[in-house]
Amino acid sequence: MCGIVGYVGDGNVYDILIKGLHRLEYRGYDSAGIALVTPEGKLNVYKAMGKVSNLEGFCKEKDLSGKAGIAHTRWATHGEPSDCNAHPHYSEDGNLAIVHNGTIENYKVLKDALAQHGCTFHSETDTEVLVQLIEYIKLKNNCELVDAVREALKQVVGAYAIAVIEKNNPDRIIAARKSSPLVIGIGDNEYFLASDATPFVEYTKECVYLKEEELAVIEKGEPLKILTLENQESKIDVTTLQMSISQLEKGGYPHFMLKEIFEQPNTLLDCIRGRVVAGGKHVVLNGVIDNIDKFLKAKRIVIVACGTSWHAALLGKYLIQGMCRIPVEVEYASEFRYSDPVLDEQDIVIAISQSGETADTLAAIQIARKMGAFVYGISNVVGSSIPRETDSGTYIHVGPEIGVASTKAFTGQVMVLTMLAISIAQVKETLSKEQIEELGKHILKIPKTVEKVLKLADKIERLSLIYTYARNFLYLGRGYSYPVALEGALKLKEISYIHAEGYPAAEMKHGPIALIDAEMPSVIIAPNDHLYEKIVSNVQQVKARGGSIIAIVTEGDTVIRNIADHVLEVPDMPECLTPIITSIPLQLLSYYIAINKGKDVDMPRNLAKSVTVE
Ligand code: AGP
Repeated sequence: MCGIVGYVGDGNVYDILIKGLHRLEYRGYDSAGIALVTPEGKLNVYKAMGKVSNLEGFCKEKDLSGKAGIAHTRWATHGEPSDCNAHPHYSEDGNLAIVHNGTIENYKVLKDALAQHGCTFHSETDTEVLVQLIEYIKLKNNCELVDAVREALKQVVGAYAIAVIEKNNPDRIIAARKSSPLVIGIGDNEYFLASDATPFVEYTKECVYLKEEELAVIEKGEPLKILTLENQESKIDVTTLQMSISQLEKGGYPHFMLKEIFEQPNTLLDCIRGRVVAGGKHVVLNGVIDNIDKFLKAKRIVIVACGTSWHAALLGKYLIQGMCRIPVEVEYASEFRYSDPVLDEQDIVIAISQSGETADTLAAIQIARKMGAFVYGISNVVGSSIPRETDSGTYIHVGPEIGVASTKAFTGQVMVLTMLAISIAQVKETLSKEQIEELGKHILKIPKTVEKVLKLADKIERLSLIYTYARNFLYLGRGYSYPVALEGALKLKEISYIHAEGYPAAEMKHGPIALIDAEMPSVIIAPNDHLYEKIVSNVQQVKARGGSIIAIVTEGDTVIRNIADHVLEVPDMPECLTPIITSIPLQLLSYYIAINKGKDVDMPRNLAKSVTVE
């Protein structure tokens, strides 16, 4: 996600916008830019790679006068981080400038159509296509900017929050949103515009949240006008802000981790968007399709990763082996790099990394490439080192993950691995069309299903009070639930500092069951899958030894609910999709236990968000 700020009024536009960008830098920090309309009707656009401070350095000695302006801090989705791809983008005639948060899925179609009309492009972004489309419509129809914006947005498929300014109207901003947030601050003869209220809350607490598919005409000295895409005036609902700035940056949540847990319905929607199409009939991961020959002839796939990404990798093994019948090995990158691996050009190595900067994973990639393997990356940070070092790859598109404990990135990684396996199986025909359509339909329902699972939060918060002072935990699962057990244990360890161990449930009888007593709670992930009867007996074995059990079960479970001490019910899903659903209660359980213990969940001791050293 990106951060947008806009201002019209008699204040110091540059200062207000730059301060606002600093408030939004948690939303993305690949590059930043600003566009100012001077009173003489000049449009100045300045932009720079990296953090907002780089933009400030670039703007020194520049003409910073202006009565209206827009600014942007970028989280790259289309087009790597670069000066050229940084926002604002401007129209070919130089009259318009735009900033955008979101993704336009049909930008290639629009770009080709505009190119046929002679439009030229200077960046790889979808946003530049949009401003060229607005200019094209404005010139062709000889209409007002707001009408051109409205017509252009009717042709857009995807998510957007935009702000557009034009040279000839130095007091006006046109804004619009769909699926990405935008809020207008109402000051005294001045207006503010931003992705959230943090950039203007110190100036005014009166604001209007734009609703889905609404446009706003924001003009100094004029009443705010809000329109629908059908050019109908909308009712203006003014809200008075109650929150502090720090709370606002976290979207009202007390911690980034909790915000990111609750973002997962939207981040999974962003991850899926444009990749599961035709109602679920087709799953299209471009990186896989473009290299399908390599996946079809691969004799083996080796997945390398660290930490939570390694748990996602283990699920990747189950998914790819199960759907594509290709042997998969999973390696800790830190072990792989020193294990003298045997690889050749018939091997595929998949490297998974949220940050795209993990040193061990980078080192593993370099070894794999030297040995001739085809290397495929799955990352979250566009333009980070790992996507640059790999032959191809897929971005998970979950937006910046600020909390050190990975949550939305994990479910995004697992979602991409699921779509990767289906994409290959589709071509290898190791899944039937019916099976693929069935999975596709369920994948499209996952964001709503996750929303439902998040409703367990209050129950889990109460449950956490019972277990806050346990000194050890066991997390148990089988099949697809085994990597979920490992991930749940890691979440608890890294933010509450309680020792927790994930284990294959059937392995308990080979030693660990000796640990079970009333002081050792077990979290058992037991959805209704093909191993259900087996996990039931594991639950009974733990209970028989006096263990306390929290079980994650499928809604309507009547067996385990009579054995476990506490059950958390999740909706029924095809077995291969359950990890995304069953991992959510474990994220919440670890969060609330850590909070009860007074821990700093966003920045746990001894940890860093990205381990760029050995
Ligand atoms: C996960 O909660 C941890 N913060 C950590 O294990 C992390 O997953 C690991 O360091 C790998 O990071 P990466 O995905 O950025 O490579």
